[in-house]
Amino acid sequence: MRVSPLTVTMLLCAIATTGCPPAPSNPGTRAPAAPTVAATSEADAQQIFTERCTPCHGAQGAGDGVAAAALTPRPRNFHDATWQGSVTDTHIETIIQQGGAAVGKSPVMPANPDLNDKPAVVAALRAMIRGMR
Ligand code: HEC
Repeated sequence: MRVSPLTVTMLLCAIATTGCPPAPSNPGTRAPAAPTVAATSEADAQQIFTERCTPCHGAQGAGDGVAAAALTPRPRNFHDATWQGSVTDTHIETIIQQGGAAVGKSPVMPANPDLNDKPAVVAALRAMIRGMR
């Protein structure tokens, strides 16, 4: 029976206790490293804010979205330091997930039930708002 050099290598590797070198791979065909959970959640939060929140809260969170003028009460300016100091992170995350009515605020502020199983995205949205000091 003919024994190829590869077979010999495999046998030796199987016997050796120190392990074998990894199979050669072509770096050009390797998949790019997966983004971290945090990076993905941040990107999702940015996109969600632009798509869902900006119409009322404004692109910069100043409470000046196109729909804001028609609302009573109007969405507040997230850059208001006094407001930032007056609310907890939990308040911000709860209103994002459950809507204004759930926390005694305007029911015009919608719930986002699809985010209930995405706590990292909710946290990233809250961090975005916290960053608007
Ligand atoms: C249809 C308009 C509308 C949309 C869309 C909307 N909001 Fe609001 N939001 C409001 C209004 C109005 C208030 C103010 C409620 C009040 O003061 O009673 C509010 C309040 C809030 C508050 C709490 C402010 C406070 O006074 O405690 C947060 C945080 C918030 N919104 C975040 C978001 C985020 C994040 C999104 C997108 C996922 C979003 N909102 C989408 C209208 C909207």
